[in-house]
Amino acid sequence: MDKLVIEGGVPLSGEIVISGAKNAALPILCAALLTGEAMTFSNLPRLKDVATLLKLLAQMGVRVTPDSGEAVFLDAKDMDNPCAPYDLVKTMRASILVLGPLLARCGEARVSLPGGCAIGARPVDQHIRGLQAMGAEIQVEQGYIHAKAGRLQGARICTDMVTVTGTENLMMAATLAEGETVIENAAREPEVVDLANCLVRMGGRVFGAGTDVIRVQGVEKLHGAAYAIMPDRIETGTYLCAAAATGGRVRLLKTSAASLDSVIDKLMDAGCDIQLARDAIHLQAPARLKSVSLRTAPYPAFPTDMQAQFMAINCVADGVATIRETIFENRFMHVAELQRLGADIQIEGNNAIVRGVAGLQGANVMATDLRASASLVVAALAARDETRIDRIYHLDRGYEDMAEKLSRLGARVWRV
Ligand code: EPZ
Repeated sequence: MDKLVIEGGVPLSGEIVISGAKNAALPILCAALLTGEAMTFSNLPRLKDVATLLKLLAQMGVRVTPDSGEAVFLDAKDMDNPCAPYDLVKTMRASILVLGPLLARCGEARVSLPGGCAIGARPVDQHIRGLQAMGAEIQVEQGYIHAKAGRLQGARICTDMVTVTGTENLMMAATLAEGETVIENAAREPEVVDLANCLVRMGGRVFGAGTDVIRVQGVEKLHGAAYAIMPDRIETGTYLCAAAATGGRVRLLKTSAASLDSVIDKLMDAGCDIQLARDAIHLQAPARLKSVSLRTAPYPAFPTDMQAQFMAINCVADGVATIRETIFENRFMHVAELQRLGADIQIEGNNAIVRGVAGLQGANVMATDLRASASLVVAALAARDETRIDRIYHLDRGYEDMAEKLSRLGARVWRV
């Protein structure tokens, strides 16, 4: 099992290119199931989760042709196995995103329940309820979702809570339904908008993506298209935190601050000087960060996927910060590991009180989930001496070539 070894204390400097967004690529690749014509996707991040999804689509009968670059061609014309088996779904919960497209395109689907993960139970009841409202018959037996439908019917759906993949599943299913579907309390995340833009490129009639009411007018069929995945805002935020925590000065290319306002604001409150260019972000960290409290919530508020990374910079900031996690019930797994590096954190329910310390000391720590791993990397880069991070397969799920990108920024990091 690979480990990451980091010799901390080096201010990051230089520039790197940000990859395509994992949480846009996953639903957009599933959209290929909605048409029998070829799709071309570019700016795909080379990630474990993307590879897993391509394997899942291939075993359904989708023809997957990687080209030399970071593009991939998908052709679902001969898709003949509308099934997502447990052994693939258990490693990548976002596989649930095939459910809506399969029902819309071939009227049936057998999808393993994703099951929970380190950060929470992660139920999919909203996905199921919305598809039932569109006329699907769904039973859950032996850990599988068995779904059948004639042509889906447009419906008015209001989800109980804001759900990103729930909104995405229902939006995809609605593109081929009979009549109009209205999704209220819809997720407004930029990745939802990226998916909607791809569906429109395929001939879908989707309106209001990015607001909390999305209208979809069903069409008979969708046609093939080429689409470039948006930049990864969470990867962007992660490297900004790494630069901030090490007192560095970095430039991130092929990315946009437009979808990161809440994170940029908090980094500025912490004392960072941030300059925005058309598709680049420049950050100059202060000598000592100021503690900044935050509360996670659906977009455009502070993203839960940046909570762990921002906690790491509060560990070495001047002052006390309160971090409140409102989306997932168990997203403080990184706290115990940060404490091993010398952090001063108290958990009170879904609040973490972080008191900045003069410095962190390297130690052996263990990654527990994707963003917790990123938080440990940020802290290790700021810590003195050497930190060894175990189970970094979590990192590989969501960060392309992280060790190489950090090395390019001057970090002393080795993968062993
Ligand atoms: C997406 O997960 C992201 N994953 C997550 O990123 C992200 O943390 C999350 O949205 C919140 O922004 C992808 O896009 C692939 P939700 P998702 O449905 O869609 C509850 C990462 O690190 N809920 O918006 O699974 C749920 O338990 C990952 O890249 C239900 O109760 O999250 C949670 O408390 C981690 N029933 C809340 O809603 C449902 O049917 C929000 O979950 C659906 C959700």
